[in-house]
Order: sequence, then C-alpha cells, then structure tokens
Amino acid sequence: MIRVQVPATSANLGPGFDAFGMAYQFYNTFFIHEKDDGKLTIRGVDRRYQGKNNLVYQAMQKVFAKVHYYPKGLSIFSEVDVPVSRGLGSSAICIVAGILAANALAGSPLSQDALFDMAVAMEGHPDNIAPAMFGGLVCAVDNGKTNLFIKNAVADCFSFHLIIPDFPLSTKAARQALPSRVSHKDAVFNVSRATMTYLALTEGRPDVLAAAMRDKLHQPYRKDLIRSYDKIHDTALRLGALGLCISGAGPTMLAVTTKDDAQTFHRDMKDYLARTEPAWDFYHLNPDNDGARLIVGDATSGEPSC
Ligand code: HSE
Repeated sequence: MIRVQVPATSANLGPGFDAFGMAYQFYNTFFIHEKDDGKLTIRGVDRRYQGKNNLVYQAMQKVFAKVHYYPKGLSIFSEVDVPVSRGLGSSAICIVAGILAANALAGSPLSQDALFDMAVAMEGHPDNIAPAMFGGLVCAVDNGKTNLFIKNAVADCFSFHLIIPDFPLSTKAARQALPSRVSHKDAVFNVSRATMTYLALTEGRPDVLAAAMRDKLHQPYRKDLIRSYDKIHDTALRLGALGLCISGAGPTMLAVTTKDDAQTFHRDMKDYLARTEPAWDFYHLNPDNDGARLIVGDATSGEPSC
C-alpha cells in the first residue's frame, strides 16, 4: 500500500506568472495498491472520474510505460479536500501523486529530476508541479528537455488567507484571456517585482511585499473573470493585507498578511465575506515547506473504509 499526500499550491503569487508557486498545509491524500484481480478500482471521487480518465491513474500509466512495469490491477482511493478548478493546483496534485506512487510501486527506478520532468510534461506548468512536489516557495524554469527549480522555505512571519469562490474557472479560459503581446515596460515591472516577491517571502521582508506583489502580465486581464475581484482586493488591503493576488489561474484569491496581523485580518475579512459572498470558503493556511509525502506500508494499512 502506498499512501501519498500532496499539498495544494498557489502559482504566480502576483508578479511571478508561470515562474513560481508555493505550497500550503492543505492536502489531498491517495491510498494506492496493486491487486491481482486485473481490475481498476477507483473510489473517493465523483463517478465521472472512476475510470481510465482518472488523472492519478493516467499519471501512473506514464511511469509504468516508461519503466516497463505492469501491475495486474490497481486500487486508488482518494481523500479530496482541495477544490477542483479553483486555482489551487488540483490537477498538479493528482499528477504528482500518480507519478510518485507508480514509481514507488515499480521499486523507485526513476530519479527525482526525471519524475519532476514527467509531471511537468503532463501538467504543463512547472510553477504548479514544483511546489506540489517539493513544498515551500519554488521557482521553476522550462529549460527545453528538462526543468530546473530552486526551492526555499517560506519565512515564518507571513500568514496566508485563501478566498475560494463557489464557482470554477478553467485554466484554459483564464489563459485565453491573456494578450499575445505585452509591453517592454510591463515586462520590466513584473521582472523586478517577481524577484522581490520571491526574496521578500523567503527572507521575511513584509516591508517590501506590498509594493512587490503587483502584476501587469496576467491579473489585469483575468480579474474580470472573477466576480467582485476589485472590491475584494481593495477591502483586503484596507483590512491590513500586504497584498492580494489571484491564486494560480483563479478564481481563488490569496491575501498575505504578517503573522501579527493575521487574526484581526481574518476576523474582519470573514465578516465582510459573510455579508457579501456567504457561499464562498475562506481559509487561513500555513505554508507547507516539505512537499509531497509518500509512505509505503503493508497492503492493509491506512486506507479508510467506506
Ligand atoms: N501559471 C499558470 C497560469 C498556472 O497562471 O496560467 C496554471 O495553473
């Protein structure tokens, strides 16, 4: 039995579009084992995803095909907490889980770098895959045939508040909203702020985060896809957030505060959301600095009965 737990992520963090993302202590967990009956059993997800279209299963098949390992049957049980199509990396979670679990079942023939490259090839966004796999704040670069990454722990002085709308937004639709060209000025605006956001979050510099966490490459084009974005942005800043950005491709929004301001901000923002968007979720989360965790046990341990 393999138990694999993979964190939710926020890619981009404002200016770091397609460049970096961070992981949270907010997980989906998968219990996976081989079976001799030749069947595929998938539980814990909507009936639509209980077949060979299941993303965890598809990721596993990529690894099995590469290393020529062919289990007779498979059981995949998913404990899903992270909402789908909300900009929290739920596809990356499934792909990372499937790739790590399949590699473990096959006797761990592939290196960490090979697993990372396979996951990125399948998902398409290293800024989502890297934090789901490695935790912390991770910047990643598609370097042609391989992907490079640098990971740092998120500094302890920040708190993260996720505002999760009750509607989905597909990454495809959010990418279609982007222009095919941006100005040199806007590119410079983002390069300088992305660098500063990464360093502010890892070196513990709340004093510069407010100025750094601004973006001109994607949020101005995507915000109209998210109901109430401008009002929520302005309210969050008025209530003490250092910055508010779209998490990944949206529609979830991430507000960052100092740890000292976290309780007051969370209480006041919760009141505001209860009045304006009562069906939305609002979570106060800590960063995950460890990434996906894989535990190999015996065939009867761990899986919840249902
Ligand atoms: N960086 C990607 C985007 C993440 O914003 O489109 C997609 O999950």
